[in-house]
Amino acid sequence: MNEILKNINECLSTDNNICAYESTAYNIINIMVVLYILAFLTSPLGVIQLLFIICKLPYHLLKVVVGWMLPSLLAKDVSNDTVLITGGAGGLGALMAMKFVKLDAKQIVLIDINLNALQETKQKLEDAVIENNTRTNIMIVQADLSKEETTTKAMNDIISKVGNITILINNAGIVTGKKIVDSPPKLMKLTMAVNIEAHFWTVKAILPSMIENNHGHIVTIASSAGLLGVPGLADYCASKHAAVGFDESIRLEMRHLGCDGVKTTCVNPFFIKTGMFEGAASRYPRLLPLLEPEYAASKIVRAIRCNQEVLIMPLAVHLTPIVRLLPVPIFDQICDWFGVLETMNDFKGRSENNNDNNKKKR
Ligand SMILES: NC(=O)c1ccc[n+]([C@@H]2O[C@H](COP(=O)([O-])OP(=O)(O)OC[C@H]3O[C@@H](n4cnc5c(N)ncnc54)[C@H](O)[C@@H]3O)[C@@H](O)[C@H]2O)c1
Repeated sequence: MNEILKNINECLSTDNNICAYESTAYNIINIMVVLYILAFLTSPLGVIQLLFIICKLPYHLLKVVVGWMLPSLLAKDVSNDTVLITGGAGGLGALMAMKFVKLDAKQIVLIDINLNALQETKQKLEDAVIENNTRTNIMIVQADLSKEETTTKAMNDIISKVGNITILINNAGIVTGKKIVDSPPKLMKLTMAVNIEAHFWTVKAILPSMIENNHGHIVTIASSAGLLGVPGLADYCASKHAAVGFDESIRLEMRHLGCDGVKTTCVNPFFIKTGMFEGAASRYPRLLPLLEPEYAASKIVRAIRCNQEVLIMPLAVHLTPIVRLLPVPIFDQICDWFGVLETMNDFKGRSENNNDNNKKKR
């Protein structure tokens, strides 16, 4: 009896080994079939190139982790940079300018439509220059970025005075926060003009010198509304989706031209407590918190210094592209569950008019 059991055990262990070999062989055959189909659909060289790209994945993942945990290892020096920030008179723009003063940027230029706010911010930045013992020069320019002529003229004047811009932050933005049927066409056009068309004109003014010197950085302040549609924000979402597409096209255009020294960063934040989205809310603030302006500005400046191509915050917004893989009705229900449908219900924004109109609607 013992002899029989021993024989059975030996048989089973031999079977296990055979099973392991069989499954390895099976996996290799599967991979070969996939590669063969891919080579048939593209070309054998195409498959080799793709495998080469995939091999670089660990390096880039490591860079993301290092940039996140030890940003100072990757952060570039900005002390020779001329930084231009649109919409720099207040909110996020002014906070980012303050960070660049502390980093001793050579020159900061703020463009905004609001002259009073520009002058106040200039004073605060100059005080910070003295306090931090840096040598940053501050320049302010009042211009309406919703018009191509005024934007291009302002940009050319600035370049003639301070020389080439090396970091451009397209930050100026507006929101009306009205349902599509209530949105006046004039405001919808204005939203597109400020939130995206202005990017065309500022980038066109500074990019030739960046390409020539193979040096520079273009930053697009988009929004999580550039990754997802939101009721009550149709024109704003359209402008921010356009900004995301614009940034990606420029990034790939630089790659196409071989300008690896011209960097881009696209920023997609959820609501920031600057007042622009006053009244907008998150259903699950622990999962999807409204961002503190200081925190958002620090993260953006850090992303610029680390040449990070895309910055999405907070973490939960990263789920958007993943949830998009699901069937559309499920995607819509998840948006509903997240509270996306009601996020703008109590929106007031900056203006009193917005407030009154919103009350009338509800
Ligand atoms: N606050 C948020 O919740 C939030 C969320 C995601 C993205 N963003 C984006 O971040 C950027 C900055 O937002 P913020 O919260 O600091 O808003 P903000 O209102 O404080 O700043 C916007 C600035 O743009 C200027 N501006 C508006 N129209 C202009 C024009 N025609 N010409 C020149 N300047 C003009 C304003 O005067 C203002 O100083 C915007 O692009 C916004 O869309 C904001």
